[in-house]
Amino acid sequence: MVKNTIMILLFLGIIFAGIVGYRYLSPDEELPFDDEQEGLSEQIVFTFSHVVAENTPKGRAADKFAELVNEKSNGKIKIVVFPNGSLFSDIEDITALKEGQVHFIATSTAKMGGLSPEWAVLDLPFAFPTYEAIEEGIHGPIGTHLLDSLQKKGILGLAHWSNGFKQITSNTGPIRLPQDLQGQTIRIMNSDTLRAQYELLGAEAQPESFNDTYHLIEAGKIDGEENTISNIYSKKFYEVQKHLTISNHGYLGYVVMMDQKVWDQQSKNTQQILLEAMQETTAWNDRQAIKINEEQLELIKQNSSIQIHELSNQEKEQWKKKLDPLYDTLAATIGDKLVDELKALRTTYEMKE
Ligand code: LMR
Repeated sequence: MVKNTIMILLFLGIIFAGIVGYRYLSPDEELPFDDEQEGLSEQIVFTFSHVVAENTPKGRAADKFAELVNEKSNGKIKIVVFPNGSLFSDIEDITALKEGQVHFIATSTAKMGGLSPEWAVLDLPFAFPTYEAIEEGIHGPIGTHLLDSLQKKGILGLAHWSNGFKQITSNTGPIRLPQDLQGQTIRIMNSDTLRAQYELLGAEAQPESFNDTYHLIEAGKIDGEENTISNIYSKKFYEVQKHLTISNHGYLGYVVMMDQKVWDQQSKNTQQILLEAMQETTAWNDRQAIKINEEQLELIKQNSSIQIHELSNQEKEQWKKKLDPLYDTLAATIGDKLVDELKALRTTYEMKE
């Protein structure tokens, strides 16, 4: 009963936000927003959908963005954030953006393969040796090229928000060496590159929606999954998994997007506020994400009996040896130039380690 009432209220809230958003975003109606006019009390409302918990790098960044936009516009622009896939799942969000059902999304870059195979460059195994390498990768020429590539799809790529490094959890373990994953069924994000990695390791890769993962583990339908500590912590995967390997084998981050048509309908003032807030949030997120993952690893250690194994340098070398051939195999679909740029970046940061 209570659940039904909450669902109805949530549904009405979404409809209301949609109507208000449409009222202010419709191409036929010019936005009346102008700082110099007096007596304008109307508010511009945007919706922002994402699939993770609020207490995660992406969840906190979305909230921070909303807070900054509110501050900078003196409350005239409101961002309503819908976390936990409560508005759209990770399977629906890009279509919803294109259809004007939501104004901002922050999709995992691994799930961008449907728009362009180039995005997979960020998913190459052990692509980034350090957090500094991640920052240069996503905010430097590689990341900028990827954001710009969205223009041809009618999408404005506003920023990259990092979550950090992925780790591996499983009920069949411990996982120390590449062969330890043989025969296991591992939930992955919907990505051909991730599938190729797990298949090379002799595992069965099963693409599933993020918010179904906990139940799939609990029901024994998959052995494990790969994710950042903050996702493992906030979705309580550590409660249903026996082993956690700190492998730092892959990057997980997001591309914040808006439909280009919706963007073009905004006044210069609104665009400037959104851009400034996005830039500040992005810099803030780079620092926060590292801290959140570190803190939540400690919480997992304190609150669970999951067995944690951190790959030694020698073990890591074995994983790289096994997975490195994928760089050449996948260059055919990702593009030689991007893969070469990534390899050069990786080498630079490996030398600094
Ligand atoms: C996942 O599906 O595991 C992640 O993309 C979830 C997220 O958005 O961090």
